[in-house]
Amino acid sequence: MSTKNIHVVIVLFSLIGIETINVQIQATPSEVILGQNSLQLRCSYTTVTGEFVTSANIQAKINGQFKTLATFYTPSVPFNATLSTDGKYLTNRVTLTNPTTFSTDSAIMQFSQIACEDKNEYMCEVSYAGSGGSTAATSGVTNISVKGNPEKPDSEPSYIPSAGIEEGNNVVFTCTGNVGKPQGKFRWVRYRYNSNGDTIQETPYESQNTTVVQMPGNCSFNGTSQLTLEMEQLDNNAVVRCQVIYQNVPQELYQQTNPIKVYYSVRNVQVTKSPIIPTFTEGAGPITLTCSSDGNPIIINTGYTWYKEFNTSVPLWTGPTYVINNVVVDKTDNYICVAQNSFNGRTFNMNNSIHIQIDFTTTTATTMTMTKMETTSTNHKTFSMKIEKESSTVVNSILIAVVAVLTVLQLGEIVGVYILHKKGIVQFKIGKKETVYADVNSDSTQIHVYSTMNSAEDSGNSDYNEIH
Ligand SMILES: *[C@@H]1O[C@H](CO)[C@@H](O)[C@H](O)[C@H]1NC(C)=O
Ligand SMILES: *[C@@H]1O[C@H](CO)[C@@H](O)[C@H](O)[C@H]1NC(C)=O
Ligand SMILES: *[C@@H]1O[C@H](CO)[C@@H](O)[C@H](O)[C@H]1NC(C)=O
Ligand SMILES: *[C@@H]1O[C@H](CO)[C@@H](O)[C@H](O)[C@H]1NC(C)=O
Ligand SMILES: *[C@@H]1O[C@H](CO)[C@@H](O)[C@H](O)[C@H]1NC(C)=O
Ligand SMILES: *[C@@H]1O[C@H](CO)[C@@H](O)[C@H](O)[C@H]1NC(C)=O
Ligand SMILES: *[C@@H]1O[C@H](CO)[C@@H](O)[C@H](O)[C@H]1NC(C)=O
Repeated sequence: MSTKNIHVVIVLFSLIGIETINVQIQATPSEVILGQNSLQLRCSYTTVTGEFVTSANIQAKINGQFKTLATFYTPSVPFNATLSTDGKYLTNRVTLTNPTTFSTDSAIMQFSQIACEDKNEYMCEVSYAGSGGSTAATSGVTNISVKGNPEKPDSEPSYIPSAGIEEGNNVVFTCTGNVGKPQGKFRWVRYRYNSNGDTIQETPYESQNTTVVQMPGNCSFNGTSQLTLEMEQLDNNAVVRCQVIYQNVPQELYQQTNPIKVYYSVRNVQVTKSPIIPTFTEGAGPITLTCSSDGNPIIINTGYTWYKEFNTSVPLWTGPTYVINNVVVDKTDNYICVAQNSFNGRTFNMNNSIHIQIDFTTTTATTMTMTKMETTSTNHKTFSMKIEKESSTVVNSILIAVVAVLTVLQLGEIVGVYILHKKGIVQFKIGKKETVYADVNSDSTQIHVYSTMNSAEDSGNSDYNEIH
């Protein structure tokens, strides 16, 4: 009771010399949830001797002024409680109960359903007769507040583009739904997967705007929020969740996308060999080369192609596994695996290689002597190297391995000669523009290198030859 009211009461007391009626209004509960039904407005009065109540009004503020919603009568008047014109909006939603005594009792308005407009300020006015004649007394004001519970978002977040998403694309996600009253909002959470397949929740996107419109038919809010994400490789199979935050508390109300497919070009091409040993010996068991890679779409079997580095114009094999069955020295090479995938009408390639070294079986050290000779003729320079082994050291038939690396400046672009010799078979590798051949006999190996300095470009690629 305010000081002003106390003064009024004191003035009344001093005028009529007695205590007077006490009127109160109470809402139980004072905060109600839309759609629920446990609300009671109770107007109570306590009279003093000589006073008797004839009627009570429950009032609410309509357009800024308190207006009577319903009138109740004590047994002194044989009328049922009724809704007034201003209270017609409550028809079928409230039950009115008259007080049964005119001294100390309550008029009750029981709600069977809560609507948005029930949020209001309420008061009670009691008409009574006393020693001062017929008059009225009012209660204080009580407030009813109405809340709307949020609901699960309308559907899984939609996103654009909805298909054919590539690494680097910006994707816009949209979420709508009832965020409640007072208005809540949405936040976004992205879940990715790590290499173990575990779900990783990222830091939620909390500050995305949620725009709201009041929902027709109730005072709850329909929110809309958008999130734009630039998709990365790690977002392949990620899930994006839209979650309701109501009164600053994240709710167990969310919807999330299905795993999102994000295309990315083939990468991480790895080539392994089995058995894992640095060098192989001629005649050893098969060598298995295996290629693996990452990409979306994943690389299918026919997306793997194998080449030998010395001739990449002819594929060796298609499939993730290539087996070198006949392990002979001339299979020594870099083996290249090219992996390929394609999406949205484009094809992507990535390759990696492994060096496979196959050596002769050497039973004894061979002593060799090398002799270099150089002659120049009109259009080419000849470089010769004679390699002789001491015949007394040959244990098996003929079994030698020779590696000669030439870094002779006069030869222009020759960077290396690679000679392997067994039983008259000689192989060698050489850079551009030179021709190399070898003479083989049981006791010596001669290599002739022609540097065709003045001749036309030859076929270009590194060469790999066999001489029988
Ligand atoms: C409010 O209305 C919307 C649709 O109009 C409905 O989805 C929602 O459940 C309603 N809320 C309450 C609390 O009745
Ligand atoms: C009061 O309501 C009851 C039941 O609804 C009805 O039977 C009775 O006639 C009504 N009395 C008056 C005075 O309207
Ligand atoms: C009731 O609501 C009115 C308007 O919103 C506000 O001015 C008043 O302070 C409230 N009273 C109480 C007791 O909460
Ligand atoms: C919210 O609004 C969107 C359109 O903006 C509508 O599709 C959706 O059904 C609405 N949701 C609710 C719960 O009313
Ligand atoms: C949210 O809306 C406010 C005001 O409209 C704007 O200033 C802000 O940039 C928006 N934030 C985002 C993340 O869109
Ligand atoms: C690669 O091998 C193919 C087939 O054996 C042959 O036609 C082609 O000339 C070779 N390319 C080179 C550069 O040696
Ligand atoms: C391997 O990749 C490199 C670099 O992209 C490319 O230059 C080369 O041609 C590729 N090799 C094959 C055999 O595809």
